[in-house]
Amino acid sequence: MSVKIGRNDPCWCGSGRKYKACHQNFDERIAKIAAEGHKVPTHDIIKNADQIAGIKQSAKINVAVLDYIEEHIHAGMSTAEIDKIVYDMTTSMGGIPAPLNYEGYPYSVCTSVNDQVCHGFPSEDVILKDGDIINVDCSTILNGYFSDSSRMFCIGEVSPEKKKLVEVTKECVELGLKEVKPWGFLGDMGQAVHDHAFANGYTVVREIGGHGVGLEFHEEPWVGYNTKRGTDMLMVPGMIFTIEPMVNMGKPDIFVNEENDWEIYTQDGLPSAQWEIMVLVTEDGAEVLSW
Ligand code: MF3
Ligand code: CO
Repeated sequence: MSVKIGRNDPCWCGSGRKYKACHQNFDERIAKIAAEGHKVPTHDIIKNADQIAGIKQSAKINVAVLDYIEEHIHAGMSTAEIDKIVYDMTTSMGGIPAPLNYEGYPYSVCTSVNDQVCHGFPSEDVILKDGDIINVDCSTILNGYFSDSSRMFCIGEVSPEKKKLVEVTKECVELGLKEVKPWGFLGDMGQAVHDHAFANGYTVVREIGGHGVGLEFHEEPWVGYNTKRGTDMLMVPGMIFTIEPMVNMGKPDIFVNEENDWEIYTQDGLPSAQWEIMVLVTEDGAEVLSW
């Protein structure tokens, strides 16, 4: 917010309108909240209409891929097969799987089974079996625009305990989503997620959070859930970020597989679940772009 724009200059958002008729009041409102000591978004994470349209196109592929996986995932299938489906389907629709080669990540998707918290490597050796729970985390690049979301799947007959973990984690995301509105704070969302997990006897992983997304895979802000209502970054129209809590049945502690420096597991070996949605803050609430 440091660049001084004249009232009659073109707005920074690229709308072509004069600043005073476009984002001037918006910037002044943000500056006032910043002066009260709150963390506020910078212009570079506020998307304009063209960017939002591009990100929505990318998200269409992401959702279509996850819909297809949802239809076809089954016991006896390897997670390498899921990786192949994601690669083939994404590229056939003109996209690129965002995980592939991202900071050296070697696959097109993350498949995290049972006590794997996230970033599980697809493998010929991981055969889905009755009773498994799995997170399939898909991300797409289309024309330079990024989308990102993940779902849980229960394979065959899953124990009531694991089923409840999967359901409560989804509820956490839904309750968090209800808190997403302009001029609220990310902590409103974070506390809603956290409180629901705790009320059910679960814990939320602290080290890994959601993120801004759209023009890059991972943008500001970092989205945690160990936050309190009225704290953390201000939400304003045009921000896009993910809500993706990792909820553990047991303790929140995790460790990374040192053989590959990617795969994350629960320390106590108990299951972990995660759902991820990508949300746009609108003028009067929120719009889910990918789920
Ligand atoms: N899709 C993950 C997320 O939600 C990103 C994982 S990074 C990867 O942020 F390289 F493993 F894909
Ligand atoms: Co994400």
